[in-house]
Formats: sequence, structure tokens, C-alpha cells
Amino acid sequence: MLDRTSQIAAVTPVCGRALQITRAGRVLLDVSDIEFGERSVTAIVGPNGAGKSMLIKTLCGLMRPDRGNVTWNGRPPARSDYRRLGMLLQHPVLLRRSALANVAYALKCAGHDRSRAERLALAALEHAGLSHIAATSARRLSGGEKQRLAMARAMAMRPEILFLDEPTASLDPASTLRIEEMIDKAREEGTSIVLVTHDMAQARRLADTVMLMHRGGIVEHAPTQRFFDAPATDEARAFAAGEILI
Ligand SMILES: Nc1ncnc2c1ncn2[C@@H]1O[C@H](COP(=O)(O)OP(=O)(O)O)[C@@H](O)[C@H]1O
Ligand SMILES: [Mg+2]
Repeated sequence: MLDRTSQIAAVTPVCGRALQITRAGRVLLDVSDIEFGERSVTAIVGPNGAGKSMLIKTLCGLMRPDRGNVTWNGRPPARSDYRRLGMLLQHPVLLRRSALANVAYALKCAGHDRSRAERLALAALEHAGLSHIAATSARRLSGGEKQRLAMARAMAMRPEILFLDEPTASLDPASTLRIEEMIDKAREEGTSIVLVTHDMAQARRLADTVMLMHRGGIVEHAPTQRFFDAPATDEARAFAAGEILI
């Protein structure tokens, strides 16, 4: 049987042009030109309130910009395209069912019949090293296991691109490492990764390029080593040195 997902049109590159979001007279997002989908890992860093979440929500089609437009492979975002674009949040939303059922449900929603969805879900859990929790209720899992399950569910859809919004912010170091391994593996499998993180060491470990956001805009976007060793802007220099940007 053909892999159904391979018949679905590509969603990358994910592009934003002249994006602006204003609330109560304050410009919260102002990004002129952005493009993701290079099969690489981009870390988005920046202080709280910089607009990181807003930018990725806008690119994922979950927030409508006041100005500008988002395209996925040249088209406006469409519901059916969500099969190839994934998003992982800091606190994943899981069904109060088994780990396996959580993954199978997502696959059924993507159009796989029940038996194929269950087979693919089992394979996805195995691939993620989570077979042992397949039958466990998602609400009984630890925070780290929940996040790994959410990541396995996202990867079961074979996304071309995956947006992650601070996926390890509330995890301990061991669970963080497991998620980082999954991100590495996803990248090796050809998924483009856009990772919002406040963990600079994580950005160094995982990212090919680092993008600094401040006050709704992109201040600097550079290859990881250059970002840390030879930043071009004062903001990036200060941020990489651990100073507080206001
Ligand atoms: N739905 C919203 N309505 C109005 N303001 C918002 C909304 N969501 C976020 N903001 C504001 O927009 C700014 C950017 O938020 P956000 O993208 O969440 O920042 P970050 O993820 O970088 O911490 C913040 O000042 C925040 O308070
Ligand atoms: Mg955020």
C-alpha cells in the first residue's frame, strides 16, 4: 500500500512576508521576510515577550497577522496541509486515553483507516523508544514522557516541518536530553525544525542557525557558531553573553 502522506503536496517552504501584528497601538510583531524549510534546525531565542510564540503561531496559521501574508509552498495555509506541518507546545495537549490511542487518533484524523493508524502508531512509539508505555493512560505519564509522546505523535505524521515552542522549558535535564535526541533524529529523517528556546546551551547543541528576536522583530539570524562567537549586533552580543535585553 502506498504511504498516504507521500501523496500530499509539500508545505515547505513556510514563508512570512511583511508580517505585522498590532494590539492597543503596540506593534507586537514586525517581521519583513522569513522562510523555513531547509531541512535544518533553526533556534529562535529572545527575551520573554519578544514575539517568538506569536511569530511561529502566525507561520503555523494559528494566528492571523494584521498585515502581510503567510504561505506554505506558495499557497495560503489550508487545513489539509496540517498533516505535513507539526507544532509542539511547552505543555502538550493529550487525550485522556492510552499513549497508543493518542498517536492512533492523530493518524486517523489524517485519513488513515483504523487498523493502519494503530499499526503506524505502534511503529511510531517503538521508533521513539516508548513501546513500554503504549497501553499507559496519557494522564498518568510524567511530564517528560508526555512531551516525548507528543513528539512521537507529531513525528508519526512524517511532517516536513516541525515548530516547537519551548518544548523542554518545564522538563528536567534527563527528559530534556531525550527530547533533544528526538529532535536530532527528526532532523536526520529530513524534517525541518524551528525551535523556540530560552536555553542557549540547547541552541548551541541543536541548531544550525540561531535567530534572535527582540520587541517583535528579528534582530539577527546567523549560523550558530557565528551567532555566539562573532555576533553582528549589540543585542545579540549582549543576549549571548547572558545579559538582559529590555
Ligand atoms: N493574544 C494576544 N493579544 C494581545 N497581546 C498578546 C497576545 N499574545 C501575546 N501578546 C503579547 O505579545 C507580545 C509577544 O508575545 P509572545 O509572542 O508570547 O512572546 P514570547 O513568546 O517571545 O515570549 C507580548 O508582549 C505579549 O504580552
Ligand atoms: Mg513564547
